[in-house]
Amino acid sequence: MQGAAYVSVIERDSPHLLTESLAACRSNDSLGSPLLFEYPGVGRVSPVTLRYLKVLSDLERHFGDLTGMHVVEIGVGYGGQCQLITSRWKVASYTLVDLEGPLALTRRYLSKLAPSAPLIFVRGDDVTRSEYDLCISNYAFSELSRSVQDRYAEAVVRTSARGHVTCNFVSSHFDIDSWTKSELSDLNVESRWIAEEPQTHPANAVLVWGGRDVQALEAR
Ligand SMILES: C[S@@+](CC[C@H](N)C(=O)[O-])C[C@H]1O[C@@H](n2cnc3c(N)ncnc32)[C@H](O)[C@@H]1O
Repeated sequence: MQGAAYVSVIERDSPHLLTESLAACRSNDSLGSPLLFEYPGVGRVSPVTLRYLKVLSDLERHFGDLTGMHVVEIGVGYGGQCQLITSRWKVASYTLVDLEGPLALTRRYLSKLAPSAPLIFVRGDDVTRSEYDLCISNYAFSELSRSVQDRYAEAVVRTSARGHVTCNFVSSHFDIDSWTKSELSDLNVESRWIAEEPQTHPANAVLVWGGRDVQALEAR
């Protein structure tokens, strides 16, 4: 169900990606035996890969060509988002911030699927202040504890010229105190909320700053 919804949004916003990044999607699914589903006109792909492709579509609509950018991603999972981005755009660097254990998996995955990408792996405890062209985080920055969010915000999020942060608000269910939606809005003076499409939870939303305000342009 959700995979088909991602395909619909990508077909609407960035249909070229369903052909141009299809090989990268197949590659993304080639390790770890993810569940694959058949989508008309697309073939067999995992819904998680389609979710990463949807984020890639958003990034291109808001920020255009990512060539030459210094990118940072917070809470990277197995590295699927990084693989799709670096297979399409020759970024100057791609910094992956996560905990030590998950990063070991990410390193292994990306050593096979993005062996020549300019990757920098940083353990959360080792994050130091750096400037980036683009900060990405999918369901990760928003669910961290407030003290970790404060540290990352100062070191890498507020120092990023552009941002695409998909936010969920689940922390309180796990007794974790995280930033509220209005505190997240203050990450950048240009911050704007866009809908999470497809909406996977009523409270979820995507915080974007920098680049073109696509929704305002489309509303004209
Ligand atoms: C819900 S998962 C999302 C993973 C990936 N972004 C995705 O969309 O599939 C949250 C991610 O945040 C990471 N994470 C948890 N605590 C973290 C911390 N203190 N610093 C950085 N990443 C952290 C987890 O290891 C995991 O990769």
